[in-house]
Amino acid sequence: NAMFSWQRTSYHFQPEKNWMNDPDGPLFYKGWYHLFYQYNPDSAVWGNITWGHAVSTDLIHWLYLPIAMVPDRWYDINGVWTGSATILPDGQIVMLYTGSTNTTVQVQNLAYPANLSDPLLLDWVKYSGNPVLVPPPGIGYKDFRDPTTAWIGPDGQWRITIGSKINKTGLSLVYKTTDFIHYHLSYNLLHEVPGTGMWECVDFYPVSTNGSKGLDTSVNAPGVKHILKASLDDTKVDHYAIGTYYAGNDTWVPDNPKEDVGIGLKVDYGRYYASKTFYDQNKERRILWGWINETDTESDDLRKGWASVQTIPRNVLFDNKTGTNILQWPVEEIETLRLNSSEFNEVVVGPGSVVPLDIGTATQLDIFAEFEVEKLESEETENDATGCGRGSIERTKLGPFGILVIADDSLSERTPIFFRLHNSTGGDVTTFFCADETRSSIAPDVLKRVYGTEVPVVDGEKLSFRVLVDHSIVESFAQGGRRVITSRVYPTQAIYGAARIFLFNNASGVNVKANLKIWQLNSAFIHPFPFDQIQ
Ligand code: FRU
Repeated sequence: NAMFSWQRTSYHFQPEKNWMNDPDGPLFYKGWYHLFYQYNPDSAVWGNITWGHAVSTDLIHWLYLPIAMVPDRWYDINGVWTGSATILPDGQIVMLYTGSTNTTVQVQNLAYPANLSDPLLLDWVKYSGNPVLVPPPGIGYKDFRDPTTAWIGPDGQWRITIGSKINKTGLSLVYKTTDFIHYHLSYNLLHEVPGTGMWECVDFYPVSTNGSKGLDTSVNAPGVKHILKASLDDTKVDHYAIGTYYAGNDTWVPDNPKEDVGIGLKVDYGRYYASKTFYDQNKERRILWGWINETDTESDDLRKGWASVQTIPRNVLFDNKTGTNILQWPVEEIETLRLNSSEFNEVVVGPGSVVPLDIGTATQLDIFAEFEVEKLESEETENDATGCGRGSIERTKLGPFGILVIADDSLSERTPIFFRLHNSTGGDVTTFFCADETRSSIAPDVLKRVYGTEVPVVDGEKLSFRVLVDHSIVESFAQGGRRVITSRVYPTQAIYGAARIFLFNNASGVNVKANLKIWQLNSAFIHPFPFDQIQ
């Protein structure tokens, strides 16, 4: 089906066809990265959910494998839903996932590889005693899903946490187990936040406050903080907070109650949901996957025959410069896709101007941009408009300025990625980082939003962002990954050879001096596993 084929990505993971949602059970095993994902093999809309499966040696090039698990038991006949992997110290792999039963009750099930000597982990066995967990008293039978990777506590028992809600309070239950078959519900909740609604796809993991390496899920020691993430069903946003985990009573307390889970930081401020991390023991890093969902109509998805993309896997670290956020950065392996690069140095962009950057085709790019703001002598640069405004067309004295990607020559389509500053009378400058989809497509039936957030800028730092462009996906990372915005756009003109990139400054009171380095990116190899050629 060639309809809108230019919207397919070239180096992001997506199935050959049909519907995908959450990443599931990511892990590294015997030389292969495994990605499972919520997958409807029959259609481009959600339903009949199975676990799709693909492997990679570098997180960039992927080989599709046969579906790992399908709904074929009473306890998952309405869907093999989201779950997580745990690698035990003796090398066994435990997969816990949610099943929607024959009466649509959400239960937790255990599965394991049939053959641990198979690096591809092709065959999965569902434990004969499933389900291993049913909703406990007081928890709604449809509010009990998405078990995490397990971690081991000081008492030698494993713990998992499962998201739920009671009335409008989102919460996370803790279970202890030694064998992954029998579980004991902890009296304490790991955490709860009133008003946040159902917590889907909870993720819970340690970060090192002074290191550049990721931590395995069970690590807890001085110098370690814990990230708690929940995907809020009501708003379809992934929220996280930084805090301390008390292994003694299995509770977690946020560093800043005002920035608690669901009311503070977002993992990604754009089109993004149901994210999940895993510890990559191969490179000692923690890697984050996230689902980029569509914003076109269901009938368009059916016509084009596919829906959804996964983000580029991101390395996650604690930001020890601010102490208040994580840093997300595309895994280093993406750099192996780099082809030729272009540099633009000290380009001065005056108020109200747009400067084309002549790099040829601009559909697959890795862009680094740095900006310095120079006040114009004549201008009083105080202004009171904060935030991202109504997008890149709303001018203030101090912004917006940045780049236009997936743009055509006439700018009939463009996606601005930009900064907008706010200078208070007290002299404080706050910086907003924004992505504006409102003019990304002339197609009428697609959701186009202005996304953005304030981003911390530490003294002495220049304003900077990195942007990955892949036909219809734009992943933008500000200030080394303190804030991230993913955009899903639907160009009809700015496609193939017609796609361009521009610098722009729509501030009325400042010149902007920009330095850019832009790489063309090759396509990744993403194809069915070549079984016939190997055997
Ligand atoms: C999140 C989610 C999960 C569930 C899965 C079903 O997108 O709703 O809570 O397990 O998708 O596909």
